[in-house]
Order: sequence, then C-alpha cells, then structure tokens
Amino acid sequence: MQPLLNIAVRAARSAGEVIVRSLNRVESLTITAKGRNDFVTEVDQAAEAEIIGQIRRHYPQHAFLAEESGASGDSDTVWIIDPLDGTTNYLHGFPVFAVSIACQVKGRLEHAVIYDPMRGEIFSASRGSGAHLDNRRIRVSKMRGVEGALISTGFPYRENVRYLDPYLAMLRAVSAKAAGVRRPGSAALDLAYVAAGRVDGFWEIGLSPWDTAAGTLIIQEAGGMIGTLTGGEYQQGGHIIAGNPKVYAALVELLGPHVPAELRTP
Ligand code: IPD
Ligand code: CA
Ligand code: CA
Repeated sequence: MQPLLNIAVRAARSAGEVIVRSLNRVESLTITAKGRNDFVTEVDQAAEAEIIGQIRRHYPQHAFLAEESGASGDSDTVWIIDPLDGTTNYLHGFPVFAVSIACQVKGRLEHAVIYDPMRGEIFSASRGSGAHLDNRRIRVSKMRGVEGALISTGFPYRENVRYLDPYLAMLRAVSAKAAGVRRPGSAALDLAYVAAGRVDGFWEIGLSPWDTAAGTLIIQEAGGMIGTLTGGEYQQGGHIIAGNPKVYAALVELLGPHVPAELRTP
C-alpha cells in the first residue's frame, strides 16, 4: 500500500474509533435538539482533529480542506476531509455514516479512503492501482441501464429545498424504471457503494468537496464514472451523477430534461 494511503487508512480508523465511542453517548442523550447538535459537532471536530493530527505528524507541510476547520496550509498536496459524513443519521443512531479522506496532489486526486466504522469496511484507492474494499479488488456493477437497477440518491434539504420540484421530477423518472431507489444518508458511502457495485448509480444536488473527493477517485478506479447532472466534467462539490458507465449515461439522459437552468454545466 502507498505510504500516503496507509496514513489515510490509519487516520480514518482512528476517527472511526472516536465516532463509535461517542455513539453510545449520543444515543442516550435526552437533552434538547440543539444540545444534541452541539454534541455531534464536538464529535465531528474531535474526529477531524484526530485525522489532521495524524497526517500532520507525518507530513507537517501538507495543506488541508476539512469540513469543520476549513482550508489551512499552503502546499501542492491537499487533504480533503469529511470526518463524519452522515451526521443526521449519527445523531439519531441510524447506523449509516462514514469517514472520508482524499489526498490531492497538484489538483489531481491520488489517494482516497472511505471508512464505515459500523461495518468495519475500508473502501480505498490510489490512482492507477484500482479500488479495494478491505483487501479485495472492487468493480462497479455490470447493470446495462436504469431499468432494473438499484439507484441511490440524496434528497435536497436546507437551501437546496428550492430544487425540490425538479428533484421530484427526477425521482419520478428514475423510480418509474429502477428496481429501487435508496436514500441512505451518507453521500460518501453512496459513492463507495457505487464503486463496489452494491448500487448501480447515484445522483444528488448540492454536495461539497469533502462529500465527494474520496468517492470520486474510488469510483474512477473501480471503472465507474462521475460527472455533473448534465454529464459534464465534475469539479469537486456541487451536483453529481455517478454510476457504472452505462448507468451513468442512462441517468444523464433520464435526468437531463428536469435539470434546472442554473444547475446545468457545459
Ligand atoms: C451530508 C450527507 C448526506 C447528503 C448531504 C451531506 P454531512 O453530509 O452526505 O447524505 O445528503 O448533502 O451534507 O453533513 O452528514 O457530513
Ligand atoms: Ca458530508
Ligand atoms: Ca460531515
């Protein structure tokens, strides 16, 4: 395993320990929603500090783009980190959440890990070396289109609720053809599952770079595709379609007519 990936995996496992250790406490908290949110924010921050601390110990000059602490450092090598993806699930004890860490060098994703601490699963990739689930090589599914496929998605919320109508039109189009549509609640795991062939495709409006950076490389190394809602080149963050190449193309076609003008990319 590449040294940088090895560090990322170790950091992800340590963050996972912080997260799981605190899960029992979050489940027994009976305080107000705000209090629970503050507590979870503490868990996010502690997990992120664990990851950044470990990486810094080995690579003090590297830069970071992390959800809780933002951008820091100035280097060609940038670590893009979501310490806890699926916070709402976590807050409710719904056991679907993950740690997502990507390493980008000169603007190109080179290493990635997504860790599911509840199942102990490590999804990882280094550019040119394929994608792995633990030590096993993974590939995207062989599904030939949306018909009969299992597709995951994220519902728009907060400021993206303004896209609910076009989103529902997209959901209707996909539901009419797919075998099933899922909203698991962790975009990072959704992408990992595309890479592992557990779902055939995925789409969501309004993601951030830390949600998608690791998943992007893992999907590409698993033979899959990831792009904008209109099939353009994906820049980290924003609106996204992913899938095996056939399902990706089918989703671009199926969703296209419902994508609002401001979400279209060249
Ligand atoms: C969220 C999850 C969720 C997605 C949201 C993300 P967070 O990340 O990935 O599945 O629908 O858009 O913000 O806030 O739990 O790290
Ligand atoms: Ca996230
Ligand atoms: Ca998060």
